[in-house]
Amino acid sequence: KKKIFSGVQPSGIPTIGNYIGAMKQFVQRQEEYDCTYCIVNQHAITVPQDPATLTERTRGLAALYLALGIDPNKSTIFIQSEVPAHAQAAWIVQCNTYLGELERMTQFKDKSSKQETVSAGLLTYPPLMVADIVLYNTDFVPVGEDQKQHMELTRDFVQRFNNKYGKGKKILSMPEPMIPEDGGRIMSIQDPTSKMSKSDKNTKGYISLLDEPKVIRKKIKSAVTDSSGIIEYDKENKPGISNLLTIFSAFTDQPIDELVNEFAGSGYGNFKEKLADAIIAELEPMQNRYYELLSSKELDDILDAGAKQANEIASETLKRMETAIGLHR
Ligand code: TYM
Repeated sequence: KKKIFSGVQPSGIPTIGNYIGAMKQFVQRQEEYDCTYCIVNQHAITVPQDPATLTERTRGLAALYLALGIDPNKSTIFIQSEVPAHAQAAWIVQCNTYLGELERMTQFKDKSSKQETVSAGLLTYPPLMVADIVLYNTDFVPVGEDQKQHMELTRDFVQRFNNKYGKGKKILSMPEPMIPEDGGRIMSIQDPTSKMSKSDKNTKGYISLLDEPKVIRKKIKSAVTDSSGIIEYDKENKPGISNLLTIFSAFTDQPIDELVNEFAGSGYGNFKEKLADAIIAELEPMQNRYYELLSSKELDDILDAGAKQANEIASETLKRMETAIGLHR
């Protein structure tokens, strides 16, 4: 089986953007691939986090993975900080990555311009992500469009590392991103020109996977559209309604053009009501499972077993990297 690796930061409660762009695929790919899913808490601390909240969200994200349908008998779920090889491999990656490459990352430029003070970790965030991916001999990485640049950096690193230290042999596997064709970039429902983000200060801009049904209805109702009243897919001129159509399509698995036909002549009000129904139909049962799991001991057992499995694979790859570059006796 080909290998999949991906991760989500516990820097907020995941939104339907995270779900459509990445997490939905986590569940779908389990049958066909050998999957490893990480809760990347070390990435989260590249910007300030309240310790107690971070701990709570880390556990919460693990419960959410399971509630979404990730099956611990098929996939490995673990917490990044419980596998020391990530930080160790990240150091090696940093020493084989150029400062210029990191300074060029748009996510770094975006995030650093929003912070009062910028940690060194924000700059070296991508090498830690590279480490995450290469440690598990990953073939595919399901992510949203915003991770494309980090994936290119990862591929550049793998090629460079293998060339420099491989002596003709492949030390690390070359990973490829898996980005959904539609839904790789879900936009804010308040400002459809900016990306939906779990750390948006305006909570009306996103729908979190744990929003209560009545909150979901309210947020969808107040989603920004336009004044034409016509439901059609036109990203350029009608970004609001196009974004809602993409979301609708992701939650019903109905193609966008089919939805456009179905809602021809219907007003935005009716369309939004049906959209809220579709989101709630999928999220509500998931939320019930989430709250059951959150307080269970089962969750800790799964995370313990996951960390153990992950540690075995990761430390093997780390050793291979260290040996290749001369960090051994
Ligand atoms: P994070 O936590 O920001 O987001 C998790 C996943 O959700 C995707 N995503 C979106 N997809 C569509 N529309 C959106 N508005 C949207 N917002 C976020 C992200 O692309 C991501 O796939 N760097 C990663 C975490 C990470 C990682 C890794 C991922 C660390 N190590 C190794 C893959 C492999 C991040 O910030 O994700």
